Amino acid sequence: MSYLINLYAKDRAIIQQKIHQLVDFLLDLLTCYNGRMSETNSSIVKLSNVTKTFKTPTGDLVILENVNLEVKRGEKVAIVGPSGSGKSTLLSLLGLLDTESSGEILIDNIKTASLSEDNLAKLRNEKIGFVFQDFELINPFTVSENVAVPVEISHMSKSEVKAGVSELIDKVGMSHRAEALPKTLSGGEKQRVAIARALINKPDLILADEPTGSLDRENGQKVLDLLLSSVTEGKKALIIITHDEAIAARMDRVFEIKNKSLHERS
Ligand SMILES: Nc1ncnc2c1ncn2[C@@H]1O[C@H](COP(=O)(O)OP(=O)(O)O)[C@@H](O)[C@H]1O
Ligand SMILES: [Mg+2]
Repeated sequence: MSYLINLYAKDRAIIQQKIHQLVDFLLDLLTCYNGRMSETNSSIVKLSNVTKTFKTPTGDLVILENVNLEVKRGEKVAIVGPSGSGKSTLLSLLGLLDTESSGEILIDNIKTASLSEDNLAKLRNEKIGFVFQDFELINPFTVSENVAVPVEISHMSKSEVKAGVSELIDKVGMSHRAEALPKTLSGGEKQRVAIARALINKPDLILADEPTGSLDRENGQKVLDLLLSSVTEGKKALIIITHDEAIAARMDRVFEIKNKSLHERS
């Protein structure tokens, strides 16, 4: 009898595994279909009633409450708010680097909550380019190698990767430093490499967390121009966190985080 139960459990595990594989396959098909159907003005990211709570030793800490936001391809959006208001937390949710406590996040009309870790990573890799505030370059890697990092899990051939990397490095004005190590670069140069890395997979959504925060005005303007031109050239959307009202003023829409909520400025 116990033999029969074990056999049954084993069959069930196999069937469950097959169902998971089938679901993953269907989600891949959907991602592919959505990719092809992508048009300017279609939604690239949508948050519905998103709440984010951190568990701390002293209890739950609610950072964002019932946040709604929809950004379409071609849009440039600024998110402003005081330090500690939850801007980076929101950007991590938008970039699928963290998960919502409740509510729903759609990337390119795909519900992210139902995705497996692998499919989530795939979606993030294909659709999203993240520019971190402190660059997050890999120190032992050269500029070229850093830019190529996100490509590892995509489907480009070696020659396509090489051409893509050198084209982008050229575009961000770093060709002359392609073989340099990050520690030999200035802040502005590191940020330009970080932007090239964020763009290498031709993402539909570019997320930048205070990308000009540690740069002087001239370098800040260059970095901003670079981000804005990448959006204008393709059917991309840019969401940028900034403290700088002059930067916010160059975006199509400005949102402010206040008392855990997100409000659009009119
Ligand atoms: N992993 C975490 N655990 C607990 N609290 C966190 C965590 N990450 C961020 N916070 C808290 O959430 C709040 C918002 O942080 P953050 O999103 O980084 O703000 P901002 O980017 O607007 O300065 C801060 O009070 C911060 O301390
Ligand atoms: Mg922050």
